[in-house]
Amino acid sequence: MSCLSVSMLCFLLALLTPANLTSATRNIGFSLPLVSSHHKLNHTTGEIGELLLPEGDVNPMNVRPKVAPAGWPMFSVVVGVGSGRGQHFYKLALDFVGNLTWIRCKPCTPEEQQEGPIFDAALSPKYAFVHTTSFYCKPPFIGHHGDKCSFSATTSLAAAHGYLATDLFTFGDTNTGHKRVEGLLFGCAHRADEFWNHGIVAGAMSLNKKSTSLKYQLGERGFATSKFSYCLFYHGQHTTKHGFLRFGNDVPNHDHAHSTPLMHYWKPLYYIGLEGVSLNEKMLMRIDPGMFKRDSASNRGGTIVDVGTPATRMIRAAYDILEAAVIADLHHRLGVSRAGYRVQGSRLCFIVSMQGIYQKLPSITLHLKDGAELTIKWDLLFVTKMHHGAQHVCFLIFPDEKMTVLGAAQQVGTRFTIDVDNNRLYFAPENCANDSS
Ligand SMILES: *[C@@H]1O[C@H](CO)[C@@H](O)[C@H](O)[C@H]1NC(C)=O
Ligand SMILES: *[C@@H]1O[C@H](CO)[C@@H](O)[C@H](O)[C@H]1NC(C)=O
Repeated sequence: MSCLSVSMLCFLLALLTPANLTSATRNIGFSLPLVSSHHKLNHTTGEIGELLLPEGDVNPMNVRPKVAPAGWPMFSVVVGVGSGRGQHFYKLALDFVGNLTWIRCKPCTPEEQQEGPIFDAALSPKYAFVHTTSFYCKPPFIGHHGDKCSFSATTSLAAAHGYLATDLFTFGDTNTGHKRVEGLLFGCAHRADEFWNHGIVAGAMSLNKKSTSLKYQLGERGFATSKFSYCLFYHGQHTTKHGFLRFGNDVPNHDHAHSTPLMHYWKPLYYIGLEGVSLNEKMLMRIDPGMFKRDSASNRGGTIVDVGTPATRMIRAAYDILEAAVIADLHHRLGVSRAGYRVQGSRLCFIVSMQGIYQKLPSITLHLKDGAELTIKWDLLFVTKMHHGAQHVCFLIFPDEKMTVLGAAQQVGTRFTIDVDNNRLYFAPENCANDSS
């Protein structure tokens, strides 16, 4: 009898599980507004207004700050967090590395500024702590005796610490209508260090493949999240427009895009197979494909795609060869020398006295598995900076001791589509402002 009721129960549960919902809604797409730090946002309604650029920054070339702060640029999505009086819409930075979506919660130290009120769990009736006994409270999360479960997330965005919780999230844009999803797992951060949020962003939205990411959780609830797409652009010319992070059927056609396999598919991050680097279409022969290999024993090496990493980072061995080639190219071709001192926030800068050299700065091509090539033009590789009254151009790729990361600044102007089910990354140059509203 008990056996029968168990199987009855299983049968009923099977009818009610998200699996059925999935088959019904798998083909449905949805999109989240992808905004810059400067977009005005109504925190009550989620309505996105015009771009409020700082005084003197109306020229699109100036939208990129002259002295880029660490953590720049930051691309975020607008998401509603909380229920009842506790609900507000926030800008959450896109994060392909962290396992968990997190938001700064009251009280939060250090007391940095952010746009909109800090999330107050006490005002949100659907907010609940994840208890030590919960299925989710297992490593890397830490249970505390009979009480809450804590998390620590360190990515290139921030080092966030706090408690695991669940609450209602609201997605979508005000034009196509909001979708509400209850009981989503997230981190309520009471500490967020080295979080260069521009005084605006409230936290990060995790899009990796772990079961605790928002992407995975939404997929479990029948949202078509196995394929997503974005096209980052600098705002300025299109002052009222914002882009979209698109999922499922909302993802535009990519028949004519380059494509390369996503490697190590069992890993939570989006690995691609970088095999070589060209400078101005000339292959750097000293860069060996082996330099980019991932070593599973040490968990080092490999190349990932991440919008949460502001600028591309390259494994040291390959970076050193690239850096030497860039220095030699600018010296021989443009007669420009490397600055012999440090310019804040940069590693490799050149003194430029004459105008008109910018268009002659080199481009870089990343050679990826299956013959795919991603060309990054000069305007995404160098940033201008004033230092002691002199104009400099500084290189926007940095060395890394652990791995290679294709970061946000070098993804601008290209549409990227990550197809997790088929383990492929598609990319193609695009005027991203065409997919905006
Ligand atoms: C947000 O929108 C609501 C409803 O339209 C409006 O009453 C409120 O004044 C707006 N808030 C801001 C700060 O614009
Ligand atoms: C994500 O979880 C894995 C373990 O499952 C852990 O090794 C990794 O450090 C976590 N990532 C972050 C950014 O916390």
